[in-house]
Amino acid sequence: MSIVPAGVPIPVEGTDASYRFRGHDHVRHLLGEVHPGDVLVHVPGEPWCLYAPVPGADDAVWHGPTPRPEERAERAGLTLGRPLDELAHRVEGAPAVAYAGARDLLERPGAYGLHPEIVGNWRIDADASAELEDRIVGSRLVKDDVALDAMRRAVAASAAGHRAARAAARAGRTERQIARVLEHAFDDAGGEGTAYPSIVLAGRRSQILHGGPDDTEMQDGDLVLIDAGAEIDGYDADITRTFAVGGVASPETRAVHDVVRRVQAAVVRLVAPDVSTRMLHEAASRGLAEGLVELGLLRGRVDDLLAADAQTVFFPHGIGHFLGLATHDVGGYLRGAQRSSRPSLKYLRADRTLQPGMVMTIEPGLYFIDALLDDPDVRSERRAQVDFERAEAFRHVGGVRIEDDVLVTPTGHEVLGADLERDLGV
Ligand code: GLY
Ligand code: MN
Ligand code: MN
Repeated sequence: MSIVPAGVPIPVEGTDASYRFRGHDHVRHLLGEVHPGDVLVHVPGEPWCLYAPVPGADDAVWHGPTPRPEERAERAGLTLGRPLDELAHRVEGAPAVAYAGARDLLERPGAYGLHPEIVGNWRIDADASAELEDRIVGSRLVKDDVALDAMRRAVAASAAGHRAARAAARAGRTERQIARVLEHAFDDAGGEGTAYPSIVLAGRRSQILHGGPDDTEMQDGDLVLIDAGAEIDGYDADITRTFAVGGVASPETRAVHDVVRRVQAAVVRLVAPDVSTRMLHEAASRGLAEGLVELGLLRGRVDDLLAADAQTVFFPHGIGHFLGLATHDVGGYLRGAQRSSRPSLKYLRADRTLQPGMVMTIEPGLYFIDALLDDPDVRSERRAQVDFERAEAFRHVGGVRIEDDVLVTPTGHEVLGADLERDLGV
């Protein structure tokens, strides 16, 4: 028997509220939607069955009408939908269980109306669970037409937001004000919220890889880095643009933006079936290292610098990740594969071969990160490779990242939202 629960809401301690519910993406993928307490069950020889809570009379008063499990199953193309309180009877005494999805059913079976003894008596089959997980992950990785349509709409809404934010950014505006413009435009263009907390950073704050907007005011000549995407039907977009405020930028800012833009375009061109994501990362590392040598920030032969991971002082993350129902989507590493601890590889979120239908972000960046440039250990380890004195002249740049969502096609690739401007705006 296979069991894939969606999860139930997590209560906020000391209140009568719950954290915003985010159903397990496996269930959303299999069902096309996800509600609290959904459990998908498959018994060999029978169709998949959706067990879902049946709304009581009061629920309709407080929360509006909710369809019954039978209707929801039909909508999802399943033949069976049953009330959640029949689940106990179905799964009691299951000989062996292949388990995937939310783990909370194992930890808090009562939340699904199951007696702990029922779950306690299950024998979870590790091999069958791994096989089930791999099958779901495999089908999430390769997008079908429905998924791709949602992703295209998410990217289009995101592009509208990026354009509105760029048009609104000017001296005296704050990061938060621009984030509001951005997210409002997402929703106006059909977005259903943000895929992840929007990153809107001005000036030197653009060095913070995953920083959130605050009340920092932009000045003419500042870079603004916006890494933000809309979500539609559960599918995410993840786009980054970096531009200058007021149509002016220092020579260092222009030079750094130019390197990142060139490298991003070059790596996107390499995306194709049977190409490894590690190769893409290495191509980005090489291009950025060459740029850093040209800028006088790294010294030495590029091969030696790459062998020593010297570029990680300015490019400390990976080239990208799979994208889908999750922003950092599943399947980046094959089962059993270990992430390397090498500085250049430890934040690489996908390390496998591309296939048509996968969507991957390509997001190189260069940053002047105080926490690295001021770290005595980094300075001593990298003193032969990095010209720290020259780096002082670049600190005002902050950081530049350019990120696109790239679909692998049978013959190469397609950049989703390809026409969203990538320029510095000067
Ligand atoms: N927005 C998160 C990332 O680009 O990975
Ligand atoms: Mn990304
Ligand atoms: Mn991003």
